[in-house]
Amino acid sequence: MTPTRPHPVMERLRRRVLSPLFDRLGYDLVPAMPDWSHRPTSGPEVEALMAAASVSLERDLAAAAISPPPGGIRAAVETFWDLIPTAPVRQRRGGSGFNGALQLYVALRALRPRVVIESGVFRGLTTWIIAQACPEAAIHCHDPDLSRLQYRSPNASYSRADWSSADLSSVDPSATVAFFDDHVAQARRVLEARDRGIARLLFDDDAAGHRIHAHGGPAHPTIAMVAARQGRGDLGPIRWQRNGRAFVQAADDPLLHDAGACIAHVHAFDDLHRATGYSPARLTSVTLALGTGP
Ligand SMILES: C[S@@+](CC[C@H](N)C(=O)[O-])C[C@H]1O[C@@H](n2cnc3c(N)ncnc32)[C@H](O)[C@@H]1O
Repeated sequence: MTPTRPHPVMERLRRRVLSPLFDRLGYDLVPAMPDWSHRPTSGPEVEALMAAASVSLERDLAAAAISPPPGGIRAAVETFWDLIPTAPVRQRRGGSGFNGALQLYVALRALRPRVVIESGVFRGLTTWIIAQACPEAAIHCHDPDLSRLQYRSPNASYSRADWSSADLSSVDPSATVAFFDDHVAQARRVLEARDRGIARLLFDDDAAGHRIHAHGGPAHPTIAMVAARQGRGDLGPIRWQRNGRAFVQAADDPLLHDAGACIAHVHAFDDLHRATGYSPARLTSVTLALGTGP
């Protein structure tokens, strides 16, 4: 169970000694308290948060052509609300927070896959979410760096190899959802999923060209870039800068066209910030039209 407050001795040390030092060096030092350790505790406010989140998720699932989970969306939100304080992973940055975890949980409760591919595991928070949402599912976790795991699921196999080189011959692609949160070009992941016959994909960190500067490790071309460039002619390259480094997404990148040609449906979920007050989530659902391609 995640402690609800930082250790008092560490907190004193941080405030009095370490924080001022880091501040002078131009860094912020903050405790790794997950955002869900802060929450409303009075009845009407909890109710307002859950109602707003449920309405938002209902709209998103419908727009993503995903049927609601058994028992309904509101029940799934309530279960998640009770579950998330028990998450075995502490993270404030670098992985999903409350909103991203809630969206993934509800989407997977609704999709009910027998197999989940997870590419981009980090500390294992999203693996835990997947295991809670689909306790019967086999999970295939891929991350080149598994040294930071704080949680291992008994239902999961772990690999440092890229998912595209995994032997999935025993997996039924029609009962599989692939979840990508790995900082690898999202258009490339679309083509790899197409080649494996997996049509149901979920992406974290999808960002449009005018918002991608806010992301560390941008996975471009992103799904939003692919969608925005479909049938629009040559709009030129997409350029941005982050931490003083210049990035460019070439307009003639074949990935943009090839991924666009096999995507049947895209829906970017609402970021849920307005509903819950937590940091914005960035989940996008992608459905592939299999049998099509460049
Ligand atoms: C944003 S973190 C994942 C966070 C996690 N899904 C969560 O929300 O808790 C991105 C992860 O992608 C991993 N990564 C980098 N290249 C990868 C690759 N080719 N395949 C899979 N994971 C990769 C990084 O090591 C890092 O752990």
